[in-house]
Amino acid sequence: MFKIDIKPDCVFSPQPMYLIGTKNENEAPNFCIITWMGFSFDKTPHIMMTIGGRKQTKTNILRDKMFSANLISEDIIWIADYFGTTMDEEKLKNDIQFDYKWGNYLKVPVLEQSNWVYECEVTKIIELDGSHLFLADIKNIQIDKRFEEMDLEMIDLKMLNPAIYAPYNYFSIGDRIGGCGEWKNHLLKTK
Ligand SMILES: Cc1cc2nc3c(=O)[nH]c(=O)nc-3n(C[C@H](O)[C@H](O)[C@H](O)COP(=O)(O)O)c2cc1C
Repeated sequence: MFKIDIKPDCVFSPQPMYLIGTKNENEAPNFCIITWMGFSFDKTPHIMMTIGGRKQTKTNILRDKMFSANLISEDIIWIADYFGTTMDEEKLKNDIQFDYKWGNYLKVPVLEQSNWVYECEVTKIIELDGSHLFLADIKNIQIDKRFEEMDLEMIDLKMLNPAIYAPYNYFSIGDRIGGCGEWKNHLLKTK
């Protein structure tokens, strides 16, 4: 394959998407999309997340040190799109119908329509050049009761049906390719 170099940019960073739920100072819930997010592990599972510039979500997290991360499945993409393109600092985000409850472990808003939700407590904050990088301990995971029988070591991604973001478009996932370690079924060994 002949490769060419291109300028480092956020042009290709395909990610599942999460609605980050926080509590405003007046106790109102707030949600916004964050896609600069990944998972890490240090004795317990953690979320790493970067929030750039001034955002209500960032103000709330810096104050309360907690948030929920609500998986965005294909069926709630337009609710998510609304929250990700409306700034809470400009107006309260109440133009659309959505339901929430407070978390079971932390006082963070949990979106009723999301089928997989993390309740997270922030343990480290790294201030970057305008952005903030948050490391957060996952204190609880709420999943749709429909997934109760699912093998958690072999998640059926098609059931969760996450929307995938590749700037600046939303995609749905395709078919299952195979399982971890199945390479021997597909490649010829050289030795
Ligand atoms: C698809 C999508 C992905 C986004 N990802 C991020 C992100 O990873 N980090 C970030 O700081 N902002 C991200 N945003 C922007 C915020 O969601 C947006 O600025 C939001 O309006 C902030 O709301 P708030 O003021 O209530 O916090 C994203 C927006 C969209 C639409």
